[in-house]
Amino acid sequence: MKNVTKVNKAVFPVAGLGTRFLPATKAMPKEMLPIVDKPLIQYAVEEAYEAGIRHMVFVTGRSKRAIEDHFDVSPELEMELEASGKKEVLELVRSIAPADMACSFVRQPRALGLGHAVLCAAPIVGNDPFAVLLPDDLMSGPEGGPSVLAQMVQQFERTPTCILAVQEVPREHVKRYGIVAGDAVGERLTRVRQMVEKPDPESAPSRMGVAGRYVLTASVFDMIRTNPRGAGGEIQLTDGIARLMEGEGVHAWLYEGKRYDCGSKDGFLQATVDFALKNPELGPGLREHLRRLAV
Ligand code: UTP
Repeated sequence: MKNVTKVNKAVFPVAGLGTRFLPATKAMPKEMLPIVDKPLIQYAVEEAYEAGIRHMVFVTGRSKRAIEDHFDVSPELEMELEASGKKEVLELVRSIAPADMACSFVRQPRALGLGHAVLCAAPIVGNDPFAVLLPDDLMSGPEGGPSVLAQMVQQFERTPTCILAVQEVPREHVKRYGIVAGDAVGERLTRVRQMVEKPDPESAPSRMGVAGRYVLTASVFDMIRTNPRGAGGEIQLTDGIARLMEGEGVHAWLYEGKRYDCGSKDGFLQATVDFALKNPELGPGLREHLRRLAV
C-alpha cells in the first residue's frame, strides 16, 4: 500500500525576478549566487536530499537556464577533469546530481506570486504530500543534527497535515513575515489558528514568523486555485494554506537551526562570512582578516 505520510517530492520556486540583487541578477538567477563556492539552489537541494527526498521539481522562468544546466551532466567538463587527473573536483561535480535523484522543470510564465509558482508544479506533484523550499532562505540545522526540512518531514510522519517552519522574530520585524498563532500541542509544535501576512507590529497575533520551508498536502492546490488574489495583487501561498486551518489543520514547527535571508544583501553577507569561517581552508585566514579590521 502507498505510504501517504512519505514526502518524496520537493518543489523549488525559482521564477522570481530577484530585483534586490540587481544588477547581478539581470541575466543570472539569484538562486545561482554562491555562498563561498556553492550556489544557493544547491544548498536547498542538498537539504531536501538529506531529508530523504529524491524527486526535485524546479519552477523556473526566463533567464533561469543556468539552474537546469547546474543539475545536468556536463560531459565536456567531466572529460576535461578526467583527462587532467583532477579526481576530487570530478567527484565534486558529479555529486551535484546523484544517480538516484530525479529533476523536473516546469515554467512559471509570469511571476504572479509564490502561490502561483507552487501551483505550476501541481501536474508533477499529483496527489502526494510534498515539500516547498525557498532557496534564498539558507537554513543550517543544529550542529550534528538533522536539517530543518528533515525535522519537518519526521514531524509530518507523526502529524500528516501542512507543516510550516517558524522562528521567533523581533517584534519590529513582524512586517517582513507571514505570522502565525495558535495552540501549543507539543514542545515545538503549534496547531495554527491564525495566519496573517506581513502584519503591523501592533496587530501581529504573535512573533512566530514563517520561514521558507513547508511540507504541504496536495489539498493546498485547490485552495490556491480557488482563492482570490492576495496582498500586492499576487497569488499568495500563505492564503491557500490558511484555508486548510479549519479542515485538515495546519501546524507550525519551531525549527532547530539558523536561517539566513539570502534574498537580502545583509543576510547574504552574513551567510558568506559564517560559512567561510566554518570552512577549514578559508576560516583561519578570514578570522585573522576580521580581527585586523576590528582593531
Ligand atoms: P521573493 O519575493 O523573495 O523573490 O520570493 P523575488 O521576487 O525573486 O525577489 P525580489 O524581492 O525581487 O528581490 C521568494 C521565492 O519565491 C520565488 C522566488 O524565486 C523566490 O525563490 N517566486 C516568487 C517565484 O518562483 N515566483 C513568483 O511569482 C514569486
